[in-house]
Amino acid sequence: MSDAVTEVVETVARAAPEVRGGLSGRRRKTDAENASGETQLAADVWADELLAERLTAIDGVSQFASEEREDVLECGESGGYAVTVDPLDGSSNLKSNNSMGTVLGVYDAELPAKGSHLVAAAYVLYGPITTMVVARDGEVTEYVVEETDEGTAERRAVREDVTLPDDPTVYGFGGRVPDWTDRFADYARDVEDELKLRYGGAMIGDVNQVLTYGGVFAYPELESRPEGKLRLQFEGNPIAYVVESAGGASSNGEESLLDAEADEVHQRTPVYVGNEELIERLESRF
Ligand code: AHG
Ligand code: MN
Ligand code: MN
Repeated sequence: MSDAVTEVVETVARAAPEVRGGLSGRRRKTDAENASGETQLAADVWADELLAERLTAIDGVSQFASEEREDVLECGESGGYAVTVDPLDGSSNLKSNNSMGTVLGVYDAELPAKGSHLVAAAYVLYGPITTMVVARDGEVTEYVVEETDEGTAERRAVREDVTLPDDPTVYGFGGRVPDWTDRFADYARDVEDELKLRYGGAMIGDVNQVLTYGGVFAYPELESRPEGKLRLQFEGNPIAYVVESAGGASSNGEESLLDAEADEVHQRTPVYVGNEELIERLESRF
C-alpha cells in the first residue's frame, strides 16, 4: 500500500474513536441540508469537518469530497489521490442508537471517478465494538479499533483475507416495499423465501452482515426514484470495491457498480451487493 494510501486509511482509523466519542452530544438536527438535500445532523457536519481537516493535510491527496459538502476540495499538488468520505453513514440511526459507519474511498483519478479507479476502500462500523474493514490489492482485512490509555487509537487485525461465505444467509433491502419496482419486488420475494431478514437502516451495518454471513444487500431502484438513494462516489463504489474484493459481486442492475459511469459527484445509484449468484440472479431479472 503506497505511503499516501496507507496514511489515508490510518488517519480514518485514528479518528474513529474520536468520531464515536463525539456522537452522543451531536444528535440534534441543524437547519442545513447536504448536497443531496438531506437535513444534516450536528454529528454529520462535525465528523465531516474533522475528517476533512486531517485528510486534506496528507501529502499525496489532491482532492477531497464528502457526502456532506457540495464541492470537491482541491488540496495539495494535482496528480495525487482523490479521497471520498461518507462521514457518518446511517446517521438517522443516531436518534435510535443503532449502528452507523464512516465510508472511505481512495481513487487514483479526478472526481467524479469510476469505481474502477479505486485503489482502496474501507469502512468503520460503530457497532457494539468499533471495527474497520479495509480492501486493498484484492484483499479484505477486518480490524478492531480501540482507544489506548494515551488517548490514541490502535487497530489490530482480527480477520485476514475476509471472503463472503459460500452459503448465503441474510438479506437487507432498503426503501419502502410499495415503492419497489415490480421486477425488484419479484426478485425480493424469491430471496425472502430463502434467506433471513437483517435490515438495520445503515448501509454499513447491513453490508457488514452480508460480508460476515453471506447474502445480499440492496438499496434498489424505486418507482419514485429509479436512481435509488445511495451515492455512487461515497457509498456505492467503496462498498462494491470491498464486497468484490471479498469474492462477492455488485451491480446497479445492469453492470458492476465499479464500471458505472461517474458523471457528477453526488449522483445516486441503485446498489446491489452480495454473493455472486444472488447478484447474477438479480441482473437476469433486470
Ligand atoms: P446517510 O446517513 O449517509 O445518508 O446514509 C443513509 C443511507 C444508508 O445508510 C441506508 O442504507 C439508507 O440510507 C437507509 O435509507 P432508508 O432510511 O430510506 O431506509
Ligand atoms: Mn450513507
Ligand atoms: Mn452520511
